[in-house]
Amino acid sequence: MTSVSEELGVRLPSVSGVIPGPRASALVEELSRFECPGLTARRRRREEVSGASHDPIVWTHARGANVVDADGNVYVDMTAGFGAALLGHSHPAVVEAVREQAGRMMHALGDVYPSAQKIALEARLASMAPWSARVILGLSGADAVEAALKTAALHTGRAGVLAFAGGYHGLSYGAVAACGYKLAFRAPFEGQLNSAVEFAPFPSGEQAREASERAVEAALARGRVGAVLVEPVQGRGGVVVPPAGFLAWLGERARAHGALLVVDEIYTGLGRTGARFRSVAEGADPDVIVLGKALGGGLPVSACLMREGVSRGWGDPDKEAIHTSTFLGNPLACAAALASLDALDAPETASMIAQTAALLGDSLRAVIRDEGLAVEDLTQVGLLFGVRLRGGVVRALSVMRAMLLRGYVVLPGGVDGAVLTLTPPAMLSAAQIAGFCDALRDALREVAP
Ligand SMILES: Cc1ncc(COP(=O)(O)O)c(C=O)c1O
Repeated sequence: MTSVSEELGVRLPSVSGVIPGPRASALVEELSRFECPGLTARRRRREEVSGASHDPIVWTHARGANVVDADGNVYVDMTAGFGAALLGHSHPAVVEAVREQAGRMMHALGDVYPSAQKIALEARLASMAPWSARVILGLSGADAVEAALKTAALHTGRAGVLAFAGGYHGLSYGAVAACGYKLAFRAPFEGQLNSAVEFAPFPSGEQAREASERAVEAALARGRVGAVLVEPVQGRGGVVVPPAGFLAWLGERARAHGALLVVDEIYTGLGRTGARFRSVAEGADPDVIVLGKALGGGLPVSACLMREGVSRGWGDPDKEAIHTSTFLGNPLACAAALASLDALDAPETASMIAQTAALLGDSLRAVIRDEGLAVEDLTQVGLLFGVRLRGGVVRALSVMRAMLLRGYVVLPGGVDGAVLTLTPPAMLSAAQIAGFCDALRDALREVAP
């Protein structure tokens, strides 16, 4: 049994009363008065769709697998904060590195007078790449995708991007133009987006492969594609895994047509799916790799890694740094990333990821085998799980809420919103896994399709 006094990080949930409680409710009320309505409207839409409250809780503390809300309720975060807290929230080594760096210097002069931490991080990332590499740092995943798209445009001289239906790469303009996940993200801005983006179907299995390959070949044959942008496993799109060999084939075809293979490893990379780079582990030979999420251990930092030869496209354009920003290589974020990479690269982290993935996978499969829970299927790649529910988005949202009330944070995903997406931290305990599976069984029974 886990006692309430047990250390935050490995605790089982402890939720009482109405959620959100009075403090969170007051904060959410304030949020709705001041935040751009586009960010809170989703809550209302979710309420309309599911018929249940979707008022958020407000996080105040997070450690390990636990988060605490403004009313003192304790949850287990099965999302690891959108995947960023792969090592657990506030990993001690990352916290220490940030504390130490904050006491010395929080900000430097980007591309003009950089910090030693920026230089160390770029060297470290380059040493991790599968080839001799150059690096551009960013602040968000989308930032790194922008850098990758610019790299491809400079190297190939082509504006075209081939992306995939169901793919998600962030919401800045370059990235959102290649967003195959939902038209709603692109449609209002269509007039300002790169019109040279094409989409191919993403093959979810061997049977879908032919149609996808045909579309890829047709797009490449038109000769306008400079970047083929792909997630090794679609994350937000519902944990969709392409058939073995597809990524390697894609890279070969891109190269044959003078385009670059850009793999978006923001979700899949740095160990979450069991390898440093899922695409490379699957036999692909990418030209550009983008990283984010777990890289900063909770601080905003991302990276675009490119082959040395590809980086020459950047040249020395007009003696200007044509891709930079005020906070480029922010020392605080770089110090966090260096500590985070030390921990991510440790052999015990790889075995912890493998053990947690095996235990959670087995336990989830046992839940799903139960009759009458109306689960269509479970997809698992390491610590990336998609539980496709019968009953569509309405049921997924209701299960999300039912799980929150039981103290477990989960997210809906998939193009149709019917996939419960789990991207837990690696240090999830056996007791937390057992508690989560019991809660999920209850929630699935309670929320019939
Ligand atoms: C595969 C992938 N690429 C890019 C992004 C965008 O990252 P960010 O939200 O940090 O801009 C995400 C975010 O979920 C992602 O899953």
